[in-house]
Amino acid sequence: MNFSVHRFETVSSTNDVAARLAAEGASEGTVVVAGRQSAGRGRLGRSWVSSPGDGLYLSVILRPPVPLEHVWQIGFVASLATAEAIRRVSGIPARIKWPNDILVGGKKLAGILIESPSVTHADIGRAVIIGIGINVNTSSFPPELGDRGTSILLQKDPASRIEMSLVQDALLDMLDIRYGQYGVEGFPPILDSWKALDCTVGMVITALMSDGSVTGIAAGIDTDGNLIAQCDNGSLVSINAGEVLMR
Ligand code: BTN
Repeated sequence: MNFSVHRFETVSSTNDVAARLAAEGASEGTVVVAGRQSAGRGRLGRSWVSSPGDGLYLSVILRPPVPLEHVWQIGFVASLATAEAIRRVSGIPARIKWPNDILVGGKKLAGILIESPSVTHADIGRAVIIGIGINVNTSSFPPELGDRGTSILLQKDPASRIEMSLVQDALLDMLDIRYGQYGVEGFPPILDSWKALDCTVGMVITALMSDGSVTGIAAGIDTDGNLIAQCDNGSLVSINAGEVLMR
């Protein structure tokens, strides 16, 4: 993929800028990076605090030639590539918590927000915006995150800051590799590699869903990307959205 990187000092959210460019017809591989975001967004309506110099705030426009019902697979491509990029650039044994949080030692190192604007371009295909936030040099986190956040800096040497461009290059390289593989070989090998880095299965989890919560042992990920939880009474519940808390 040919990446074309647009860099800004400050934006509201790189996902917003990417969505606007996508609506104007920007091609696959268009990347938006910002030094800071004034209204960075996380999953489930949360905000993503994006102070200058702390994190990598990046969004990529993809136009995957897959039916709408397969677009969720892009989340697995993105979380796999992000975990692998962090491993490659820092040696930190980053793992993935379903569906796409990147953790190390149970603490959050990176997050991914996938958005698919409803505007479609018949000729160039539907855009999917992959927004990735990596805590690179972050040393303090918002109170609501408590001690559940971490960064490459804190995991390595808190005295030596990491060059942001190295992380960005590793991320785009891995996205290129995994998205390319997805295009050629389809989803199964992506899911296999994703499972090798998953840290959810085997844990006691509570899934918070719109219609209630489920507690059980995470028993597996099915071929549709759902998390399967085994409850105390032995029943299996399939979870396809929402938040998962791990103990
Ligand atoms: C999450 O874990 O809740 C997802 C966080 C995603 C944050 C990134 S930073 C770049 C892009 N722009 C945003 O506003 N959000 C994503």
